[in-house]
Amino acid sequence: MSPYAHITGWGMAVPEKVLTNDELAEMVDTTDQWIRERTGIRERRIASPDQSSATLATAAALQALEVANLKPSELDLIIVSTSSPEHIFPSTACLVQDRLGAAKAGAFDLLAACTGFIYAISTASQAIRSGSVKNVLVIGAETLSRFTNWQDRNTCILFGDGAGAFVLQASETPGGVLSAVLRSDGSGADLLTLPAGGSRLPASHDTVDKGQHFIHMNGREVFRFATRVMSQTTRETVEAAQLTLDDVDLIIPHQANQRIIESAARSLDIPLERFVINVERYGNTSTASIPIATCEAIQQGRLNPGDRVVFVGFGAGLTWGAALIEWSAPFLPEKAIYPFTYRLWVRVRSYLRRLVRSIEGLIWGSKYPDI
Ligand code: ACO
Repeated sequence: MSPYAHITGWGMAVPEKVLTNDELAEMVDTTDQWIRERTGIRERRIASPDQSSATLATAAALQALEVANLKPSELDLIIVSTSSPEHIFPSTACLVQDRLGAAKAGAFDLLAACTGFIYAISTASQAIRSGSVKNVLVIGAETLSRFTNWQDRNTCILFGDGAGAFVLQASETPGGVLSAVLRSDGSGADLLTLPAGGSRLPASHDTVDKGQHFIHMNGREVFRFATRVMSQTTRETVEAAQLTLDDVDLIIPHQANQRIIESAARSLDIPLERFVINVERYGNTSTASIPIATCEAIQQGRLNPGDRVVFVGFGAGLTWGAALIEWSAPFLPEKAIYPFTYRLWVRVRSYLRRLVRSIEGLIWGSKYPDI
C-alpha cells in the first residue's frame, strides 16, 4: 500500500524590520487609508541587507525540523519554492541544504510564484506516496522587496518578505495530504512579470534604465483572475478527496488582498471566521504566505490534529491551485537530535569542504565564486 504524506513539522521566519503604510506614504503618493481599504494591509516586513531568501528559508526550516524532531541528515529531499531566489543558479535549495547539513538530500527550487508552496506540497506528497522518499522539507521563501520598485505605488504597497517551512513524512496511518489541484494559464503571463534578468532579456544598462528588473503588474486583471479561481479551485480539491465543504474546518488562502479573500468566502458561502487572514501584518509574502499563516493558526490554537484544512492560492504564470490536508501531529520519535551541536558541525563541515576545494584549486589552478 502507498504510504501517506503527513505534515509533521512547521516553522516560519520574518525579518524584524516593519514598514508601515505611513512610512510608505512618505515614499510614494499614497495613504494608509487607501492601502487599508483596497488591500487590508497595514504593514509588511522588509529583509535587512544581511538577510536573503536562503537565510529566511534556513531559519524557518530549522524550526520545522525541530518541531518534527528530525535531523537534517534524515531528509531525502528539499524543495524551495521561491520567485526571489538568491541566484538564477545555483538553486536556493542547495544553499539551504548546505546550511542545514542535509547530507543525503536532493535539493531543487520550484517556481510557480505565489502558488508555489501548493505546487511544492503536491510534489513532495507524490514523491512520498510513490515510496521513493520518506522525509521531505518544503520551504516557501521570498525577499520580493529586492525586486520591488519603491517608486511604483501600484506594486510597492503590496509585497513583504518572509519564509515558512513544512516537514512532510511518510506513514502508513491514513491522513496528511488528501488531494491537490494544480492549474496554469500562460496566456496571462504578461499580467504579473519580472521582465529582465532571464534569458529572454538579460540584464543590461538598458533594462535597468527601463526598470525592467522590477515587478510589473496589471493589478485589476490579477484581481479579477484571483476572485474567479479561488473558490473554483477550493471546490475542485475538496471534490477530488470525495468530501464536501462542510467537511473542511479551516481555509488558509494566499494572503494577497483582504478583498480577494472576502470575495472567495462569499462565493463559497463560508463564513470569514473559517479563513485564516494575516495579510494586515505581513502584506503579500508570495509563496511564503500560506506556511506563515499556518504557523500562526497553530500558535493561536485554530489548527489541530485531525482538522481538515484547505490551502488555496494563485499567482504569476498565471498559476493557481489548492491542497486539502488532514492535519497531523509531529511523529515525535524518542530520540535526541541536538540541533545546536549539529549546526556547529554543519558549519565546520561546509568550511572544510570549501577549504579542500580551494586547496585543489591551488593545485589544479581553478577558481570558485564566493557564494
Ligand atoms: N495609493 C493611492 N492610489 C492608488 C494606489 C495607491 N497605492 N495604487 C493605485 N492607485 C489609484 C490608481 O491610480 C487608480 O486611479 P485612477 O482611477 O485615477 O486611474 C485608482 O487608485 C484605482 O486603481 P485600481 O488599480 O483600480 O485599484 P484597485 O482597487 O484594483 O486596487 C490593487 C489595486 C490593490 C493592486 C488590486 O488591484 C489588487 O490587489 N490586485 C491583485 C494584486 C495581487 O494580488 N498581486 C499578487 C498576485 S500573487 C503573485 O504571484 C506575487
